Amino acid sequence: MKRVLSGIKPSGDMNIGGYGGALHQFLTMQDEYECFFFVPDLHAITVPQDPAALFRRSREIAAYYIAAGIDPKKATIFVQSHVPAHVELGWLLETQAHFGELGRMTQFKEKSHGKDAVSSALFTYPVLMAADILLYRATHVPVGDDQKQHLELTRDLAMRFNNRFGTTFALPEPIIQQIGSRIMGLDDPAKKMSKSNPNRNSYILLQDSPEEIRKKLARAVTDSEGVVRYDWEQKPEISNLIEIYAVFAGESVDTIEQRYRGVGYGPFKQDISDAVTAKLTPIQSRFNEIVDSEELTAILRQGALKAAADASETLRKAKQAMGLLTLD
Ligand code: TYM
Repeated sequence: MKRVLSGIKPSGDMNIGGYGGALHQFLTMQDEYECFFFVPDLHAITVPQDPAALFRRSREIAAYYIAAGIDPKKATIFVQSHVPAHVELGWLLETQAHFGELGRMTQFKEKSHGKDAVSSALFTYPVLMAADILLYRATHVPVGDDQKQHLELTRDLAMRFNNRFGTTFALPEPIIQQIGSRIMGLDDPAKKMSKSNPNRNSYILLQDSPEEIRKKLARAVTDSEGVVRYDWEQKPEISNLIEIYAVFAGESVDTIEQRYRGVGYGPFKQDISDAVTAKLTPIQSRFNEIVDSEELTAILRQGALKAAADASETLRKAKQAMGLLTLD
């Protein structure tokens, strides 16, 4: 059976990078796969979070899943900390993960660089991520390009465990889209679009108004050539904008290039802004309806029960395989 698990951390207001690399992909998968979409709140707290903001954001991420079109009748939607098996399996896997391989994780290097108080949880973060995936025997994990290394580690840990203790885990494949898996900052196409960038004009939030979207895109860096051509080597700024357009308009890069032949960047940027707004406006109104609703609370309650029941099976197998005492 094909199974999907993925999630978006509640560590900042959600931007269109997470939409392009992750959420947009989730939507296309719910009919074909058995899907688990979760809110990895335990991952968010590996760096300092304001408790009140975190509390709010966990609901918000779940509300965005639903507002964007994930159907809770088809997919299981839940919050990571509601299913204690994640932490338990995380510990079991930590006994198999090597200090050296965790030290090689580029996300850890980036996030710890220049900081003197780095939590040990930030270091072991990828092992908890492996537990998230392996617990549900996920075969496919839709993610943005920056999670590729974590997926490789997940596969290594699964193989190591299976070799040592007998086949327990399924090996997951990352699903990384050709277009939209690396949306870069509007101010600098060498840096990933990220909620942690202090420059608010570098990203578009899912909650931005049409006017904010228009202004941010108008300010987005371009080059002086005036030609809309997809070429990451020579034209990273324009290539990034083409990818954003392709994701939000559901069009191919070719179609977009053709349309702007002989037309300057002005109309191109205006059309991207219209495409982003057209997609986000209905998501925002559904989000506003659901974010504080009892309906969302009930979906998350239900999701946690379903996820916990599923996860407990794998956890039991892993414990048994390792020789931990059972009394039944
Ligand atoms: P997070 O919360 O940083 O990002 C959520 C998802 O969005 C993708 N993404 C992007 N894709 C394209 N362009 C961008 N600028 C961009 N920014 C973010 C990410 O690649 C990711 O797919 N460790 C994960 C959360 C996690 C997880 C998991 C994911 C925890 N456990 C298990 C999958 C399976 C993270 O920090 O994603």
